[in-house]
Amino acid sequence: MLGPVILAASRSDKMRRFISAAPGTKQVVDRFIAGETVDQVVPVIQDAAGKGLEVTLDVVGEDITTPEQAAAARDAYLELVGRLKELGLGTRAEMSVKLSMFGQALEGGHELALANVRPVVEAADAIGTTVTLDAEDHTTLDSMFAIHEELRKDFPQTGCVIQSYLFRTEADARRLAAAGSRVRLVKGAYKEPASVAYQNKPEIDKAYVRILRTLMQGEGYPMIGSHDPRLIAIGQELARQAGRKLDEYEFQMLYGIRSEEHVRLAAEGHRMRVYTAYGTDWYGYFMRRLAEKPANLLFFGRSVLTK
Ligand code: FDA
Repeated sequence: MLGPVILAASRSDKMRRFISAAPGTKQVVDRFIAGETVDQVVPVIQDAAGKGLEVTLDVVGEDITTPEQAAAARDAYLELVGRLKELGLGTRAEMSVKLSMFGQALEGGHELALANVRPVVEAADAIGTTVTLDAEDHTTLDSMFAIHEELRKDFPQTGCVIQSYLFRTEADARRLAAAGSRVRLVKGAYKEPASVAYQNKPEIDKAYVRILRTLMQGEGYPMIGSHDPRLIAIGQELARQAGRKLDEYEFQMLYGIRSEEHVRLAAEGHRMRVYTAYGTDWYGYFMRRLAEKPANLLFFGRSVLTK
């Protein structure tokens, strides 16, 4: 019940101002956001590497309103690639990007987002790593998949995300389960209408299993993006049934969520990648994390009230 309300609030500027200014917010935000600057996130990457984990880095931000902001987003990622190169961390860290942050929703946004993301993908490739295109709300996906296809002509390892709550995703998965592709499967984090998406958890979970089976039986590289213990166990079983070795798929989870499970899976020999978000424009990302688990909202409310 609360999830859709929080997701609606995630699009409200008034709520953004209120929550950003509330005392106690920072303490809760810090659980999900690894820092504000590249320098603050470097020790987090090093710590993850020490535990046998890999990371995918997300510079938070979305819903930008000017081409200048889109260019600034590109530059923030280029700065990140530069730091990874200096530190020799290119092989442990890839990047996740939201095309909305690169200008996708602006006038001429499809071309603008492609023009802004391409240099980031190119720079990542030059230091031996890659980029995954996050999936945002369903209205953006045709453009995201077209940009993904275009980038893959020069950088075939560019990844993309698909969401099991959308009816379209089973067909997308069949198309994407081809040699060389890298696909992260998640349940989906946006508020979507019943005309395009399953609305209840059992249906979303069942679709997740069907889609994961398609990816595992295909020829690409599946990335299992979930904290759900049942789906993680099913993922392992589907990989086994498909005859995949441990380095032929990976698990991914979010920074700050079920951290002990990250380490457990890595210790079992799985490739485990932690989606690590950082930056100052954390509002949309933070609100989606609140919406996923109502208990987070209680914790947040308590933190604000006690400050
Ligand atoms: P589920 O929501 O059923 O949670 C299972 C368990 O995990 C919960 O019982 C709880 O213990 C824990 N948990 C989950 N979320 C939590 C939270 N916020 N706080 C505390 N505990 C929590 N979505 C999207 O639309 N586009 C995208 O590009 C991505 N990218 C992405 C990358 C990665 C690596 C992950 C793991 C997830 C995403 N997502 C995403 C988010 C995804 O769609 C989904 O909303 C969350 O992963 C929560 O779903 P679970 O599969 O974890 O299951």
